[in-house]
Amino acid sequence: MTRVGVIGGGTMGAGIAEVVARAGDPVLVLERGTEAASAASQRIDTSLARAVKSGRLTRAAAADARSLVTVTLDLGEFADRDLVIEAAPEIEQLKVEFFTRLDGIVSDTTILATNTSSIPVIRIANATSRPERVVGVHFFNPVPILPLVEIVASLRTSADIIADVTDYAANRLGKNVIRSGDRAGFIVNALLMPYLVSAIRMLESGFATADDIDSGMVNGCAHPMGPLRLSDTVGLDVVLAVTESLYEEFKEPQHAAPPLLRRMVDAGRLGRKSGQGFYTY
Ligand SMILES: NC(=O)c1ccc[n+]([C@@H]2O[C@H](COP(=O)([O-])OP(=O)(O)OC[C@H]3O[C@@H](n4cnc5c(N)ncnc54)[C@H](O)[C@@H]3O)[C@@H](O)[C@H]2O)c1
Repeated sequence: MTRVGVIGGGTMGAGIAEVVARAGDPVLVLERGTEAASAASQRIDTSLARAVKSGRLTRAAAADARSLVTVTLDLGEFADRDLVIEAAPEIEQLKVEFFTRLDGIVSDTTILATNTSSIPVIRIANATSRPERVVGVHFFNPVPILPLVEIVASLRTSADIIADVTDYAANRLGKNVIRSGDRAGFIVNALLMPYLVSAIRMLESGFATADDIDSGMVNGCAHPMGPLRLSDTVGLDVVLAVTESLYEEFKEPQHAAPPLLRRMVDAGRLGRKSGQGFYTY
């Protein structure tokens, strides 16, 4: 049994807590207030109910998993955790503060992981007295559905910690693990973002319609969804933030955000979550 702590019970944190509990491990989720705590609990309840409804989980297994999740407002309760996975908002200062505080709370043997999408793991690791025990563990949304986890080693992460976390993600959580270096975008987003941004540029230039761009990739390349619909699903604010972090890291024109993407985010057209993006939902 691994006692797991998750910081932040949002989209990713709730999903991570759910897969940990479904694997049979107790999990504590930190939230920032009572309203956010009940929203986090609600997210987990809704997701488990959906898994039961679709036949992916029995009612009894869902109840067992739910009983292993506790939401707390007190980071001090993380003192007995073996593994902490941070899934707080993508704000470097916030993450650095959490790791500094955790370093003084958890035991010397605890592994500290971050689910960051774009902040270098080394900058988070440097906030602790144990950078060799800090690692990136990048899940994909929705966590209970998508099998991939990118394990990110900073230049200071020890090989033993990488092996332990890989073993946990693969053999306990049942995830497919790939290993990445500590560079913006890791493997998946470094490949995906230039593709999404190219599709947005193609639309912006008037070269083709959204339907034709998406249909081209669905029907010509067997992708389950075209790049513009996928951008809407990821969230255009997230696409913008990730491509900006790639641009910041590599300074390559392919990563420069097209004006259309910026204007859509300015207008609150964030895709599926706001009801309007390249398509209407
Ligand atoms: N959404 C994605 O598709 C995705 C995919 C992979 C990685 N990530 C990364 O995962 C992390 C979390 O992203 P998300 O999409 O789940 O964000 P989110 O906004 O849905 O969730 C963040 C949660 O943290 C909580 N929180 C904020 N401040 C807090 C504090 N001081 N103490 C405790 N809890 C606090 C919020 O209440 C919220 O529930 C980010 O680093 C993001 O880059 C996101």
